[in-house]
Amino acid sequence: MTKIAPSILSADFAKLGEEIKEVEQAGADYIHVDVMDGHFVPNITIGPLIADAIKPITDVPLDVHLMIENPDVYIPQFAKSASIITVHQEACVHLHRTLQLIRSHDVKPGVVINPGTPAEAIKPILTEVDLVLLMTVNPGFGGQSFIHEVVPKIAQIAAWREEMNLDFEIEIDGGVNEETAPICTENGADVLVAGSAIFNQSDRKEAIDQIRKSAEK
Ligand code: DX5
Ligand code: ZN
Repeated sequence: MTKIAPSILSADFAKLGEEIKEVEQAGADYIHVDVMDGHFVPNITIGPLIADAIKPITDVPLDVHLMIENPDVYIPQFAKSASIITVHQEACVHLHRTLQLIRSHDVKPGVVINPGTPAEAIKPILTEVDLVLLMTVNPGFGGQSFIHEVVPKIAQIAAWREEMNLDFEIEIDGGVNEETAPICTENGADVLVAGSAIFNQSDRKEAIDQIRKSAEK
């Protein structure tokens, strides 16, 4: 079954605990936590204190997406609450080392690439990751439109996974909704991040069910 990772970037931060409980009860597989530093992306969001506060209120694993420069500095702090930590290839000078650093904290390492970065940039480290995240928007903000040109990269990563006999998950982030979900899963995606398509709806369970249903058509 396709996994759904609601992105709390589109949640109401004044009642974050309730929002998380609601998507947990609605069947969320991961809670996607978007960390932005105002340098790697032009926005500032959540720090490790918020991730620490969320951790004890939910049984759903935290999927922490670091959109920050120098992620190595903050990995030990996020490792206290995260089940998965995903770092941008574009932000890591020593990507292989950073992925190993994440694993050394008993957290699953993930790698992410922007729409403008070729799949080839992460081919040499695919053996090191538990998750590959493909951005289908330019990171920084929720509510943007899905960039269709990324779709061939989903298929490419899925093909390499099979050829290399690996078993990492393929996750898609940005502009995922009922319409774009099937394009992702048809090409090999296992996990769909959705922010506005879930939190902008009053019935979160209905929103999650509909994305999942359309993803599996
Ligand atoms: C964008 C973030 C996404 C964002 C997705 O920089 O990484 O996780 O919250 O939001 P939607 O689903 O609204 O495109
Ligand atoms: Zn994200």
